[in-house]
Amino acid sequence: MQASLRRSSRSLLDHSRVISPLKSIYPLSSSGYGFDHRRYVSTIDVKGAGHLVRKGTGGRSSVSGIVATVFGATGFLGRYVVQQLAKMGSQVLVPFRGSEDSHRHLKLMGDLGQIVPMKYNPRDEDSIKAVMAKANVVLNLIGREYETRNFSFEEVNHGMAEQLAVIAKEHGGIMRFIQLSCLGASSSSPSRMLRAKAAAEESVLREFPEATIMKSAILVGTEDRILNRWAQFVKKWSFLPLMGDGSTKIQPVYVVDVAAAIIASLKDDGTGMGKIYELGGPDVFTVHELAELMFDTIREWPRYVKVPFPIARILASPREVLLKKVPFPLPNPDIFNLDQINALATDTVVSENALKFSDLGVVPHKLKGYPTEYLISYRKGGPAFGSTVSERVTGSDF
Ligand SMILES: NC(=O)c1ccc[n+]([C@@H]2O[C@H](COP(=O)([O-])OP(=O)(O)OC[C@H]3O[C@@H](n4cnc5c(N)ncnc54)[C@H](OP(=O)(O)O)[C@@H]3O)[C@@H](O)[C@H]2O)c1
Repeated sequence: MQASLRRSSRSLLDHSRVISPLKSIYPLSSSGYGFDHRRYVSTIDVKGAGHLVRKGTGGRSSVSGIVATVFGATGFLGRYVVQQLAKMGSQVLVPFRGSEDSHRHLKLMGDLGQIVPMKYNPRDEDSIKAVMAKANVVLNLIGREYETRNFSFEEVNHGMAEQLAVIAKEHGGIMRFIQLSCLGASSSSPSRMLRAKAAAEESVLREFPEATIMKSAILVGTEDRILNRWAQFVKKWSFLPLMGDGSTKIQPVYVVDVAAAIIASLKDDGTGMGKIYELGGPDVFTVHELAELMFDTIREWPRYVKVPFPIARILASPREVLLKKVPFPLPNPDIFNLDQINALATDTVVSENALKFSDLGVVPHKLKGYPTEYLISYRKGGPAFGSTVSERVTGSDF
């Protein structure tokens, strides 16, 4: 009896027997990145289709005709882009390099089977081809505002973008390529990341002339890395360091609006192809004014310490000097990020003649009110203590 039980459990655990019927449907890979030519050769007829075919009422269960590979989907902006793609019935391929947890939150955003996480290695061309093979749209949201021991600004922000554009062109069926860049990206910027982003724009347009470049201003939203960081710093130290005198002009934008602009550029008749859009919020703030908004929302008394730029650079330098010299990883920079301090030395606003949100039919939200309401979690006494921000915002503020 026991012998027969052992035999049957062994046969159940025999992987090759369990997997072989599946292999006929999904030929499985042995490379570890899910790459397999037969499986990933695109069967979608997209060439010469003019614009993307849409079927159904436009909801989550319709067919938008878009099969999008979203590089950088595991990041802050990525979740909003995936959500908006999925809710109009698109299939979204999510390349990820980290743990299985990095994309878990995205799976629920679409119908069953519509969000497809695929492990890849950004330095392995074959694995990039594999995650792109079934797609007809590629979005590159990869970016990082600090360097690590493994990845330089140039590799992440420029090299990877160029490689994706080359592979997308070779693919032949990629109808749209969207490259996320930064407002202020220029070859003369004092910031290395912004110079790398400018180089990426040039390379992407050279390799894939129909690509659309979205130059986003600093993003604000629930998981942002500006207001959250400031609020956390204030809760810990009871003051906020203001780089320079806080008079640098910026044009922060609500993350959902940037995601909406990306989707709008996919849905249009192709007029966005080969164009560069500058996406800034409806209001220009000085850094000081934005900090005031943060203090107002978290209901803390505004206390600032003005840090002149040369001092801020000195405070931020040790990490940059030590990064490649010590045999262990250093903590990621927070408020004192040398490259971002350099970027903050000049105003970053949408230029007058640029294509903007209005050219895509998107009306960006004002930041005061709902887009920054997540900050109430930093309030003393809890978020529900007293009136909420939206209650205090008047109709004209929306
Ligand atoms: N956040 C802003 O305020 C802001 C403003 C203007 C423009 N942008 C641009 O908008 C895009 C999205 O920004 P975000 O805030 O969503 O960025 P994020 O949260 O930092 O996410 C960046 C994404 O890039 C991926 N990535 C980073 N380094 C990588 C590497 N070495 N190899 C492969 N993948 C890598 C990350 O993957 P992992 O999850 O595996 O790390 C993540 O999916 C970026 O291009 C950024 O430059 C952002």
